[in-house]
Amino acid sequence: MSKQPIGIFDSGVGGTSVFKEIQALLPHENTIYLADSANAPYGSKSPQDILNLSIKNTEWLLNKDCKLIVVACNTATTNAISELRQKYNIPFIGIEPAIKPASLNSKTKAVGILATKGTLSSKLFHNTSSLYSNGVQVIEQIGEGIVPLIEEGKALSPEMETLLKRYLKPMITANIDYLVLGCTHYPYVLPLLLKLLPKHVKIIDSGEAVAKQTKAVLVHNNTLNTSASLGKHLFYSNASTSVMETLLGKPYQVDYLKF
Ligand code: DGL
Repeated sequence: MSKQPIGIFDSGVGGTSVFKEIQALLPHENTIYLADSANAPYGSKSPQDILNLSIKNTEWLLNKDCKLIVVACNTATTNAISELRQKYNIPFIGIEPAIKPASLNSKTKAVGILATKGTLSSKLFHNTSSLYSNGVQVIEQIGEGIVPLIEEGKALSPEMETLLKRYLKPMITANIDYLVLGCTHYPYVLPLLLKLLPKHVKIIDSGEAVAKQTKAVLVHNNTLNTSASLGKHLFYSNASTSVMETLLGKPYQVDYLKF
């Protein structure tokens, strides 16, 4: 059991930011990553379409004999994870915007959240947000257009900077001291966010928490890979592989998959 891979999927290349956290914390684990880039972005799709795509991704990973699946996509997690957990007898780890730590730690009592339409309109996000945002102003912003630009390899382009400037303006005006990244693609625009936000604003995402939770579940289920050698990592994409290879950096290679 323990040598079986961890399966990871996202609507595209963004979940590689989560893969990196998992690989750093669990270097002996084997992983298989599936990027459904041909169907990105998920964020503007209906909850039913997001669920159907999540089921398709899950079944592909299950055929690869994964022992656990990380839904490395906030949009898929917030719209589909409870159905996936009901349907399949395997542990699922999801990713959700870190609204709780941001709201609890905010001194200005104003936090910003950048996420997809699908995440911000989900019941799961609403429940978490209303539970923890007591007395804190949460400025929600749909990151329309950010995912497609990243998928095209334009994460740090002038077009991206123009978009982000527009999205951050109301947050800066509201004097936020935390910005929550509610999409696994967004860590790839971090240099621009740091450039555009006032210095006191802290930026948080949930990638590291997901890696910790993955480890905790593997330990609890006694399914950690106890091998002394480093894990093997396979990456598949149903669109261009070069953008993902650039984001992953050497030595990783991405294979094209008709999917
Ligand atoms: N990485 C996905 C997320 O975390 C992007 C969603 C999309 O494709 O719109 O939500």
